Amino acid sequence: MVRDGALSLASTDEAARVGEPVSTDDADGVGGVRERTGPSGGGRVPACIHVPAIRLENLGDPAFCKDLGIRYPYLAGSMANGIASCEMVEAMSGAGMLGFFGAGGLLLGEVEAAIDRLTRALGDKAFGFNLLHSPNEPDLEAGAVDLYLRRGVRLVEASAYLGLTLPLVRYRVHGIHLADPHSRGRLRHNARRSLAEGDGAIVTPNRVIAKVSRVEVASKFLAPPPESFLRELVQSRDITEEQARLASRVPVAQDLTAEADSGGHTDNRPALTLLPTMLALRDRMQEQYNYDRPLRVGLAGGIATPASAAAAFAMGAAYVLTGSVNQACIESGASDAARQMLAEAGQADVAMAPAADMFEMGVNVQVLKRGTMFPMRAAKLYEIYQSCASLDDIKASDRATLEKAVFKGPLEEIWNRTREFFLQRDRAQVERAEKDAKHKMALVFRWYLGQSPRWANSGDASRRIDYQIWCGPAMGAFNEWAKGSFLERPENRRVVTVAMNILYGAAVLLRANVARSQGCDLGRETLSVRPLTLEMIADRVREEER
Ligand SMILES: Cc1cc2nc3c(=O)[nH]c(=O)nc-3n(C[C@H](O)[C@H](O)[C@H](O)COP(=O)(O)O)c2cc1C
Repeated sequence: MVRDGALSLASTDEAARVGEPVSTDDADGVGGVRERTGPSGGGRVPACIHVPAIRLENLGDPAFCKDLGIRYPYLAGSMANGIASCEMVEAMSGAGMLGFFGAGGLLLGEVEAAIDRLTRALGDKAFGFNLLHSPNEPDLEAGAVDLYLRRGVRLVEASAYLGLTLPLVRYRVHGIHLADPHSRGRLRHNARRSLAEGDGAIVTPNRVIAKVSRVEVASKFLAPPPESFLRELVQSRDITEEQARLASRVPVAQDLTAEADSGGHTDNRPALTLLPTMLALRDRMQEQYNYDRPLRVGLAGGIATPASAAAAFAMGAAYVLTGSVNQACIESGASDAARQMLAEAGQADVAMAPAADMFEMGVNVQVLKRGTMFPMRAAKLYEIYQSCASLDDIKASDRATLEKAVFKGPLEEIWNRTREFFLQRDRAQVERAEKDAKHKMALVFRWYLGQSPRWANSGDASRRIDYQIWCGPAMGAFNEWAKGSFLERPENRRVVTVAMNILYGAAVLLRANVARSQGCDLGRETLSVRPLTLEMIADRVREEER
């Protein structure tokens, strides 16, 4: 298609149709440059440029989408306590994307109910569940793996790992086998290519997408499972010798999400430095192990606008994964009150605060700061935990403040409730606390850290000041971008509308960059992609389908 080149591409409408290539020739013989008289001002622009179509499907690694059975390289990450709800996972799957159910913090029965619902609703479509490392309560992780294996959950997002664990490896290698040689014709070419067995590709029915922020942890996920774990699994008859041999030739995770500064657990790493480092690691590991199927790396943390997604794809991310922006959408398990607070957050309205699950280890999570005293109160609890040996050791004035403002009751009463809870869930915690006063104090403090997200999710007005809402700076970036549009109001935010805007806007910006790199100075209106309805986006990407 030949157009009046740089001039017409500078119009918003032309740049918007991302599925349509724009080429210009030098038909009027102006010799490479011409005077510009477009709406965004004058100047000399090249007479010949070519801007390719960018299909949203092709923004990341199309092989990743194909393997997972999704259309777009966009994932919604797990959010604990069902904040990443069944509704959210269903919406994502329905639109050709992928969501992970937020299994963390839920009872196994609740997770199983979600498995029932999603299996019924989604059938063969792609969806996954969270598998969380829980060093304080290892039975939780093992119980989740038992459940996932029993119910045939084929995809997990593995997170919060500092090293590999036996249950994780057990999940990954369960059912590993060689493909039936008769079905080889159906296998992808690269899966067939380098088979040491010579008679079929290695099939791993269970897929792990690891989410990590540290290179040393990532290198464990991108390597084959440790031999010591495979030996243990053979001994416990979870796998055969033959399966152990096959397992030693596949990575624990073929796909890895590099998680930069994000909501929830985070090392606050900058995306601009983390992703290139993880991509380099991917290449090293691929070369070292010469896997049949290439390793892939996606990016999470701070993805909230067309510009951030464009940057991720331009740097080489196979896919993007979001969290904070989805919590503010109507499908999330958050309360309306929490959604409203999120919709008002700015860039700097977040803070690090002690995490309930790894409180004693001093691990922090990123939370919303605006409108809640949770970060301050949780930090005070950690300070007391560090300086006192037991509940009885706490200074009288501090104890009075805690009982009045934070716990709203005597600490001994909170301990009784905590004890009851752990007698049901994990008796060993109670036995340990009854011998170790510091551990008892930790469990009591963790009661507050554990209840505060529940108050936020249920919208308990009497506890508004204690809401613990996990949130990263992505939320402020999104709010800034959505300001003045229909997406400013939380009741209009839907995960698919947000996702499609981010992807579509990324395609527009990437095309604008291609034009700019050819010397075409685009107008400001082309570079600021405003929120659109799904219908408007569908209209603009329709060219692709012609
Ligand atoms: C409210 C909330 C809860 C989260 N809970 C979990 C979780 O249980 N498991 C997990 O792997 N990641 C969890 N995350 C992280 C997200 O899945 C995602 O990786 C992260 O939010 C991406 O960064 P962003 O917040 O900048 O978009 C949570 C994030 C938020 C905002």
